[in-house]
Amino acid sequence: MGCFTFVKVVMVVFNLLICLAGMCLAAAGIWMTVDGDSFMKVLPPFTDDFQSHVSVGIFSITIGAVMTLLGLLGCCGAQKESKSLLIMFFSIILIICIAETAAAIVALVYSSYTQNILRAWATSGLKEQYGKDKILTDLWNSTMTTLQCCGFSNYTDFSGSYYYKQNGALYPPTCCAGPELYPCDDHNADFIGVVGCFKQIVQIIQRNLNILGGIAAGVTAIEVAAMAVSMYLYCNLGKKIHLKV
Ligand SMILES: *[C@@H]1O[C@H](CO)[C@@H](O)[C@H](O)[C@H]1NC(C)=O
Ligand SMILES: *[C@@H]1O[C@H](CO)[C@@H](O)[C@H](O)[C@H]1NC(C)=O
Repeated sequence: MGCFTFVKVVMVVFNLLICLAGMCLAAAGIWMTVDGDSFMKVLPPFTDDFQSHVSVGIFSITIGAVMTLLGLLGCCGAQKESKSLLIMFFSIILIICIAETAAAIVALVYSSYTQNILRAWATSGLKEQYGKDKILTDLWNSTMTTLQCCGFSNYTDFSGSYYYKQNGALYPPTCCAGPELYPCDDHNADFIGVVGCFKQIVQIIQRNLNILGGIAAGVTAIEVAAMAVSMYLYCNLGKKIHLKV
């Protein structure tokens, strides 16, 4: 088996695995979103108080779909020895790589700026859609319950919101750390001062920085390898046909 054939087989098998993994991930995500309760019963580590199944589900579906498509593209490109599919595969991964790098740089260099954009975006969604939009409400509910936080910055994010008005000037129970302090009005919410979800999330990220760094390094390595392999195949396709003739 020549080097070209070996690389080709590796690329086909690897992309087939990526494709299968993507399908499994997307299927699990769909199941989680549609029928979270029974999904949680199958996975023992997830206890009942872990309610983020919708957010995790949507995230899994997105990542799974991208992996499936990319895997299919790479697999077909290598198997059919198609220059256009290979270059498409290469370009998509290159774009993903550039986008990831750009996002990381922007997030690090302009972190306070990013934080303001994130705050404006999250807060307006919270004010207008919390209690109205099922998915957004579910996402916030699970985040606030799991992380024991309230709003993006603090409870004032709910002041004057749709939920606040609908519930007779009350905040969601998590903003008063559960049902003990009832009713959860301005006075009680201010008194207990439940921390905002953004702060909690930043703390979780900081505590797991080494794990996240490891995942980022692993993903980057796979992307670079995939680009190198598809470029190798692309460049050697013409030559191989030439040799055959
Ligand atoms: C979210 O939490 C609020 C306050 O506890 C509750 O009224 C609402 O039904 C919950 N919504 C969803 C979709 O879980
Ligand atoms: C709530 O957060 C906003 C935005 O960061 C801040 O301006 C405000 O002072 C905070 N209020 C309380 C009561 O902590």
